[in-house]
Amino acid sequence: MHPTVSELYSQLRLPVICSPMFIVSGPELVIAQCANGVVGSMPSLNARPQEQLSPWLTQIETALADLRAREPDRIIAPYAINLIIHTSNDRVDSDLEVCAQHKVPIIITSLSAPHRVVDAAHNWGGKVFHDITTVRHAEKALEGGVDGLILVTAGAGGHAGTTNPMALVGEIRRFYDGPLILSGAISRGDDIAAARAMGADFAYIGTRFIASTEANAVEGYKQTIVDSGSKDILYTPFFTGIPGNYLKPSIAAAGLDPDNLPTVDKSSANFGSSRKKAWKDIWGAGQGVGNIESVQPVADIVAQMESEYRASLQRIGSDHFSRQEALL
Ligand SMILES: Cc1cc2nc3c(=O)[nH]c(=O)nc-3n(C[C@H](O)[C@H](O)[C@H](O)COP(=O)(O)O)c2cc1C
Repeated sequence: MHPTVSELYSQLRLPVICSPMFIVSGPELVIAQCANGVVGSMPSLNARPQEQLSPWLTQIETALADLRAREPDRIIAPYAINLIIHTSNDRVDSDLEVCAQHKVPIIITSLSAPHRVVDAAHNWGGKVFHDITTVRHAEKALEGGVDGLILVTAGAGGHAGTTNPMALVGEIRRFYDGPLILSGAISRGDDIAAARAMGADFAYIGTRFIASTEANAVEGYKQTIVDSGSKDILYTPFFTGIPGNYLKPSIAAAGLDPDNLPTVDKSSANFGSSRKKAWKDIWGAGQGVGNIESVQPVADIVAQMESEYRASLQRIGSDHFSRQEALL
């Protein structure tokens, strides 16, 4: 097993990295995720103004250190911060500086190739995992020295790719045996087992945690996730300039017709600190919504995922499928 994978496994209760989500992930959610043995994360841009980032990191570190002191045998996962590398994000350097001061254990980079972030993070002993949606992006990220790849496949919440997860994992595993993290509509423990069976080391999960008590989302958003199925998810570039998955009911509630949105130009993408508030009531979510049945505390979500994951492994392990039976 790759050293980074075994090192992380030793700090986790489940092979799960919770994904960073714009607005939704804050210190409360990250602390709950790490405290329950799965990597918690948030985008640096959620801390506004920029000066808020360092106090938030201190809050996370202090809460986890207190818990570690109180419960020395508890599995407490490391946390991760997401840096969005895009020309419109004028905070990358200042946010990276704060991450360096705090020696953030894991940096998750999205959009452009993260070369300079990799050098900086390695200086303080941090790991960098980079989001990709295609084989070409994966190759470029590996040339830049990243420590792991996050495969954002079809059906994922936020800016999802369009490739089938089995196709992408298989193709990337042909040339890469390092840490591989799979995302896209993973809601249950069975899905985590499926990701592992496919060849991924970790599942990367976002939408399931929007429907958690600790998520920074209004009740209507959480309940719409519980009430929705994959048919209620629309993939469109309309809101950010880059295609992403959104809840159709929130688009309709904003007075737009989800089935007739105008086309937009990719150059309108904006991830800066001045990112438009115009679409704050448009709710992002992946196709895994149909497998989310209730809003629960993170502790209960992880406990349920763990029992489903173990049951799934047992079911597959005891599968007495044989050629002879198949022919019957
Ligand atoms: C509401 C929402 C906001 C997101 N914001 C970000 C973000 O700011 N940065 C990022 O790298 N990914 C973001 N993502 C994508 C997630 O990191 C991840 O790829 C996705 O949640 C995984 O798929 P799932 O939601 O189906 O589990 C967001 C996803 C959602 C649902």
